[in-house]
Amino acid sequence: MLNRKPFVGGNWKMNTDLLSAGALARGIAAELVDRPAVDVAVFPPFPYLLSVNSILRERGAGIMLGAQDVYQKPNGAFTGEVSTEMLKDCGVKCVLVGHSERRHLIGESDDIVNRKLARSLEDGLGVVLCVGETLDQRQTGQTDAVNERQVRLGLADVSAAEMTRVIIAYEPVWAIGTGHTASPADAQDAHQKIRAVLADLYDGEVAASTRIIYGGSVKSANAAELFAQPDIDGGLIGGASLDAVEFLKIVRAAAPAGARHPA
Ligand code: 13P
Repeated sequence: MLNRKPFVGGNWKMNTDLLSAGALARGIAAELVDRPAVDVAVFPPFPYLLSVNSILRERGAGIMLGAQDVYQKPNGAFTGEVSTEMLKDCGVKCVLVGHSERRHLIGESDDIVNRKLARSLEDGLGVVLCVGETLDQRQTGQTDAVNERQVRLGLADVSAAEMTRVIIAYEPVWAIGTGHTASPADAQDAHQKIRAVLADLYDGEVAASTRIIYGGSVKSANAAELFAQPDIDGGLIGGASLDAVEFLKIVRAAAPAGARHPA
């Protein structure tokens, strides 16, 4: 993965409660203080952001606090939505946009994803832009076209300078929460093609420096093989991120050889 620093994020989705979110944050933070080889982020549900943030800060762990979603307007009459400034008040440093569950269950379009991404960048947040094909799209040979479209439309009007704050997560929809992981070779192929889209949209430097991470049924048992692929720079972890021990094993699997700390 050249000199790209690995990134591993735990997307807790609509799981945990106040107590278990705190316990999970404590479990992760206890092991990850002063471990700079991998950027680690957790994405708790909105109601637990503040308490998870104070636990992470209290432990002095360099773990980034992320949010699972954000609204594209700065403030106003948008009942139920959450703004970038509110997230920043809670200690959030980066947000997920375009997660497949929001695209496919909530119905978010590429245009909305792009507006959320643009708002987040404008307001100083980092962004993880999620892309990926459905099973039907894979079976009908549309994987590369879908990824290319979601990357191009998601990044519309984003400058090369802003790309330093963007991570792309390739998460094939059919692999999310199903136990069916993309093979390392298939995932590598998709990542390499997404990197080629970045080279075309920007230049070779942006393509070489942007982190592209894989998501979809990553576990400690398959993480090392996936992360060993040259274009896979870490992972976005769902189910396996709800167990601190399992998540920490995945984080360790992303550390560059030589930087791996003992279990
Ligand atoms: P799983 O790891 O549960 O498949 O979820 C992946 C994901 O959607 C992360 O954002």
